[in-house]
Amino acid sequence: MKNCKTMDIQLLMLIIIILLPLFLSRFSYGTDIITAPSYFSDGTTLVSSDGSFELGFFSSGRSGKSRYLGIWFRKEVQTVVWVANRCNPINDSSGVLMINSTGNLVLFSQSGSVVWTSNVKKEAQNPVVQLLDSGNLVLQDRNAGILWQSFDYPTDTLLPGMKLGLDLRSGLNRRLSAWKTPDDPCPGDLIYEIEPYNYPGLVMWKGSKKYFRSGPWNGIGMSGALHLKPNPWFKFNFISNEEEVYFIYNTTSKFVTTRVILNQTSTRGERYLWNEEARNWTLFNQFPWDNCDNYGTCGAYGTCMNAALPPCQCLKGFRFKSQEGSSVDWIQGCVRNKPLDCQKRNGFKKFGGLKLPDTEHSWVNKSMDLNECRAKCLENCSCMAYTTLDIKEVRGCAIWIGDLLDLKQVQSGGQDLYIRMSAADSDHDETKGNSKMKAGLIIATAILLVIVVLVITYYILRIRQNIEGRENGKDNERQNEDMELPLFELDVISKATNEFSSHNKLGEGGFGPVYKGTLPDGKEIAVKRLSRSSGQGLVEFKNEVALIAKLQHRNLVKLLGCCIQGEEKMLIYEYMPNKSLDFFIFDDARKKLLDWSRRFHIICGIARGLLYLHQDSRLRIIHRDLKASNVLLDSAMNPKISDFGMARTFGGEQSEGSTKRVVGTYGYMAPEYAINGLFSVKSDVFSFGILLLEIISGKKSKGFYHLNHSLNLIGHAWRLWKEGNALQLIDTSVQESCTQSEVLRCIHISLLCLQQHPEDRPSMSSVVLMLGSETALTQPKEPSFLFDKQSFEIDSLFGKPESSSTNQLSLTVLDPR
Ligand SMILES: *[C@@H]1O[C@H](CO)[C@@H](O)[C@H](O)[C@H]1NC(C)=O
Ligand SMILES: *[C@@H]1O[C@H](CO)[C@@H](O)[C@H](O)[C@H]1NC(C)=O
Repeated sequence: MKNCKTMDIQLLMLIIIILLPLFLSRFSYGTDIITAPSYFSDGTTLVSSDGSFELGFFSSGRSGKSRYLGIWFRKEVQTVVWVANRCNPINDSSGVLMINSTGNLVLFSQSGSVVWTSNVKKEAQNPVVQLLDSGNLVLQDRNAGILWQSFDYPTDTLLPGMKLGLDLRSGLNRRLSAWKTPDDPCPGDLIYEIEPYNYPGLVMWKGSKKYFRSGPWNGIGMSGALHLKPNPWFKFNFISNEEEVYFIYNTTSKFVTTRVILNQTSTRGERYLWNEEARNWTLFNQFPWDNCDNYGTCGAYGTCMNAALPPCQCLKGFRFKSQEGSSVDWIQGCVRNKPLDCQKRNGFKKFGGLKLPDTEHSWVNKSMDLNECRAKCLENCSCMAYTTLDIKEVRGCAIWIGDLLDLKQVQSGGQDLYIRMSAADSDHDETKGNSKMKAGLIIATAILLVIVVLVITYYILRIRQNIEGRENGKDNERQNEDMELPLFELDVISKATNEFSSHNKLGEGGFGPVYKGTLPDGKEIAVKRLSRSSGQGLVEFKNEVALIAKLQHRNLVKLLGCCIQGEEKMLIYEYMPNKSLDFFIFDDARKKLLDWSRRFHIICGIARGLLYLHQDSRLRIIHRDLKASNVLLDSAMNPKISDFGMARTFGGEQSEGSTKRVVGTYGYMAPEYAINGLFSVKSDVFSFGILLLEIISGKKSKGFYHLNHSLNLIGHAWRLWKEGNALQLIDTSVQESCTQSEVLRCIHISLLCLQQHPEDRPSMSSVVLMLGSETALTQPKEPSFLFDKQSFEIDSLFGKPESSSTNQLSLTVLDPR
């Protein structure tokens, strides 16, 4: 008996010990449920069961005294995701939330006046309010189901799992509206919502003006929504049926915390990611992205290309509507060169890579195929274009009635659009009935087969010949190489450049002066007159040049040929009308012409050109003198690297190793190269890092000077980075146009490229990858900043560098800090 009693007491103690924490947590941690008779006053909070969201009262307003009922992320920085009484703050802490007798959620203030209510018409018996782990506040009843939920009434934040869009049955429009100011949750005039059109997408309104369109959902994405490109963290979806039209996204893992907000101050939508390390939010991306995203920038039938100068262009077959002299009023758009006459035969022309035009006046059919779609469009004179409705399933038809507005040439995710044209301007009629098409297909296949057989025969013959040729000696091959490189006569070049007149001189590049020339056929060229003896035989030189001429990439200047006569050796290049990058970024007036998106385009181009040299071309070339003046710009401001392969031409270099003769320019040279003459692809990566800093800051690396310290550009950048002030590095003339996250990423990448040890620096392929994605980057190690203290002449280290592009070289050593 006695034993039994102590057992009972022990059991009781045990139960208390087990249950005590539950009680404690209930009181200290809050709960996620409110039931009917209880109420909820200012000072208490409701916490979702996993602790990620909290409902309660918070202060905002100019004085910071206005109280609002809201939901926020339960994190170090209070981040409000929903507000009940957006425009109706309570002036003291008397607010009380309760479920009233009809089962509605009601917020009262001290005077007993209703500040906010959930306004449900249906009556409920035993309603319960619960804050879910998704951040959704739900009012539900065991019998009637969900009566009201905060996800149906979004404020400025779209959380994972929230629908942005329309419920066609109830007429509910779930849309985002920005806070008027950072401390006033009352809606401003920036709205983001579903377009209620036949072919719907998302649209951002600024007041009553359309401000940005994502383009319609095409089964995979939206042609104008760069921010929705596939990524490892979120999945997007768009549902459109008889009952609902909405956009939704979800995270792929519960460890990803993210939100999308509409920001009145920046007039943008912004996606933030929670950074676990920094315990803060980081901007992931934003929309609209560039100036071309602004609605209708180029008017009807105009397409906008952000990196181009001018940004607005007419589609092929169209011309600017207003064109007086040289000034063009873009917004008036473009008109057809040959006006349409619906009485005569019309056709269609296919345009690729487009953001689809405004679908306000559109018509869709989910089952038609492209031929039927074409026929449908052709029969109505006001139909101006058609395309496939769903490019994932490859079916359906969308047609546009009236002029096409808000087109944009996009780099990825663009779509085909078939635009109505007069018969003469349109593509050949490819759809004259199925039987004809089939016949055509058979003929085409037959022709193709014949060609394949011919090609194979040709190659077999050639291989035979080659084998015979080899037996006969290798001269044939040499000759072949020569044949492929155009040789220019000295007379021709001399005439083209006005006998190398000083008027035609473009500059003094590495290895000699460069002249502009015009060939008899009007083609413009740039002639580099090599001033150095190459130390190579003529044949070797020619072979080398022939090899380099074969390197072709849209971000490399094209070598057209060479001219050799006696001692004279010249290289002939395509002519670049917009000079070089240094001409723009270091000039106070001209730097304004290169806004951020253009600079970013240039950065990506250089990176791709360099990647091609390093990896993708069969020669694997190390540039060894990458700098702003070696990046030329074509008429559309696309960057093209010049002077590559010069080191090869001057000594038949191996792809990696050490050299006695340092070719390069102070301010761009990697430390291991400048000091020990060691070069590798990673020394080019270093130069690229410097170039990045220059493009971002608009400051020259060489001769960089700062009032407050004696650091050079790298040191300056590193210091700002360490202090968390990296954005101060931005050139003031692009501050307005820049995307901060993109700039920060570029600075981050440049610091990775500038790390002291070559093996720490990324390869160009990772650089290209990092520039094109939003993946997390590793932390850079301290770069090697060559301090401007103990400088000494490079000549004393390596002997005379002759007249390379290293003008007056003065080199400084690493400060061993
Ligand atoms: C809105 O944008 C401004 C300006 O870019 C920024 O300073 C602010 O932090 C943003 N607001 C929010 C809530 O992120
Ligand atoms: C062309 O289509 C539009 C939209 O469907 C319609 O309003 C218009 O009446 C049609 N015109 C003709 C001539 O069929």
